[in-house]
Amino acid sequence: MGKYQIIATAAMGLEALVAKEVRALGYECEVENGKVIYTGDESAIARSNLWLRTADRIKIKVGEFKAHTFDELFEKTKALPWEKYLPEDAEFPVIGKSVKSKLFSVSDCQAIVKKAVVERMKQHYKRSTWFEETGAYFRIEVALLKDIATITIDTSGQGLHKRGYRVDQGEAPLKETLAAALVLLTNWKADRPFMDPFCGSGTIPIEAAMIGQNIAPGFNREFVSERWNWIPSQVWEDARIEAEDLANYDQPLDILGTDIDHRMVKIAQDNAFEAGLADLIHFKQMQVRDISTYKEYGVIVGNPPYGERIGEKQAVEHMYKEMGQAFKKLDTWSIYILTSDEQFEQFYGKPATKKRKLFNGFIRTDLYQYWGKRPPRQNELNQVENID
Ligand SMILES: C[S@@+](CC[C@H](N)C(=O)[O-])C[C@H]1O[C@@H](n2cnc3c(N)ncnc32)[C@H](O)[C@@H]1O
Repeated sequence: MGKYQIIATAAMGLEALVAKEVRALGYECEVENGKVIYTGDESAIARSNLWLRTADRIKIKVGEFKAHTFDELFEKTKALPWEKYLPEDAEFPVIGKSVKSKLFSVSDCQAIVKKAVVERMKQHYKRSTWFEETGAYFRIEVALLKDIATITIDTSGQGLHKRGYRVDQGEAPLKETLAAALVLLTNWKADRPFMDPFCGSGTIPIEAAMIGQNIAPGFNREFVSERWNWIPSQVWEDARIEAEDLANYDQPLDILGTDIDHRMVKIAQDNAFEAGLADLIHFKQMQVRDISTYKEYGVIVGNPPYGERIGEKQAVEHMYKEMGQAFKKLDTWSIYILTSDEQFEQFYGKPATKKRKLFNGFIRTDLYQYWGKRPPRQNELNQVENID
């Protein structure tokens, strides 16, 4: 087994959550802006791809160095052990980005890195001609930040938010990674009721169900590194067997998704069916103002419309007011609402217990958190029984 520097990339604001997930997988890690870095073997690559719910991608760091000139970028890239990663027939496109660096022309940086890798490979594979690149896919990235070049290879392929269950979507679906983050930021446990009153295509309830039954989010998809010759297929098989063993399919769940739009309810049902979770999540058409329940100590996570489109603001703010009225009765429930409306608390009618800044794509939002009462502990329940 080899040792690799692994980078789990994270959306702004989610780094700590990704780090928590990485540690739960058993890897010590460091957190930087937009990434979590750790060391692991081939199985760490497979397990990270399969399990990390809130990370965007899993990359391998091939090298990191200062690069002030194109010559430096070329020579230092060529000095990296590319033959360790790329077989002779590898397809290896190079993408790039540059922030606050002397080498700001991204297309030139990409071309130079490509040339340097080709040179190294030519020497190693003793070739004088161009490579056909007909084999497995290795996407290289050169990322320059303040003149430091970080060179990585992507192991995921499609971003990790592509779980493989989304057959259809509405206008503003949440990224699956953010939906999972919202659920993980609550105090929800699988034995408590869960509700999303703005379920849209069902992303939050589906992610909650996977968390509730400890289902690996990547279980039903492929990763580009599954085709790499230096990760034995046994590694992937073992990781999938482990995921199967750890899934708790017997865990009963009480998850409800509602939406004003019956077409969205149908899409959410189809997506849940595709995820194999149709029996675990109940969806129904309903307006938020009509929500009421006799259940206690549940958790609500909602991503309502933000009212950012022209002419929509007033109606949305009125709806926030109705939501506040409806949820007033749910005093044992914990309620988490994600919106970009900075006046949300005023319309909802109550200051949040806590706010957390999060980015929904490029939109700056807050997760308004209203913590409900704690469920009584078992000994408190016993005392009540004794009094009776
Ligand atoms: C931003 S989308 C939610 C997207 C969802 N999280 C997803 O991943 O697909 C907001 C949803 O709120 C629904 N909605 C708007 N007004 C509502 C109301 N008064 N009651 C319930 N749902 C409402 C819309 O139909 C829409 O599906």
